Amino acid sequence: MNRIVKKRRLSADVFRFTFEAPNIARERKAGQFLIVQLDNDFAERFPLTIADADPETGTIDIIFQAVGASTMKLAAMEEGDSIANVLGPLGTPTHIEKVDGPVVCVGGGIGVAPMHPIVQALRAAGNEIIVIMGARNKELLIMENEMKALADTLIVCTDDGSYGRKALVTEPLKEYCESDNPPALAFAIGPPIMMKFCAETTKPFGIPTMVSLNTIMVDGTGMCGGCRVTVGDETKFVCVDGPEFDGHKVDFNNMMLRLKAYKPQEEDHKCRVGADVPGESK
Ligand code: FES
Repeated sequence: MNRIVKKRRLSADVFRFTFEAPNIARERKAGQFLIVQLDNDFAERFPLTIADADPETGTIDIIFQAVGASTMKLAAMEEGDSIANVLGPLGTPTHIEKVDGPVVCVGGGIGVAPMHPIVQALRAAGNEIIVIMGARNKELLIMENEMKALADTLIVCTDDGSYGRKALVTEPLKEYCESDNPPALAFAIGPPIMMKFCAETTKPFGIPTMVSLNTIMVDGTGMCGGCRVTVGDETKFVCVDGPEFDGHKVDFNNMMLRLKAYKPQEEDHKCRVGADVPGESK
């Protein structure tokens, strides 16, 4: 059991939880994620990214948006409650090295959370870092102070201009690509459509661009096939081959179609776990 030691509400439906997971806090590396199951009664398993970790206190931080049944149930949990099962760290860690030129890290919405450990690791490797973070409005921006502490340059964009620059993140990204000192490497994490357009922005400049994919996941160990994506000519499993891939090779259109595949079932779904089944005695 993993006890929640701190709960913070970052906006209407975005939460930051700190919970006990000493082994994960010690072992996790940038780019890795968790599969969480809230209770032992056939509860849904769902992936969450790690926003931060403290090996000293044995705790990890997750930031998530309460959008589906399980994340809403998680959001309703309180400090002192425990999450039944936390599997991780999963996935292939981010390849971190010192590169010859600035690294631009683009985080959109909740995607800023998984970008945070990557920026920490890139910084520790001695890179010059430009962080571009964006959200629909000021209320939805997360981790600005943490990013300010790590980045050499921080650019904040909002779609509605309520804070920072009124622009999509691809606008400053393109300006950096066109500058005299273009990025040697780019990372983009956020909604699939944002990652797709970030990759399309950097491609003509030949700037290697890594994206971290947020597909549907079930087991997180390469068994179910739920997370498969097309990268170049190959089928890859996000949970074991990723979550990071070459953004110039990812078939984002196919990935977005697959993400929509279960929407109707999700909307119509009425949870029957624990309900009495006619003709069956307990
Ligand atoms: S989550 Fe099942 S194969 Fe990746």
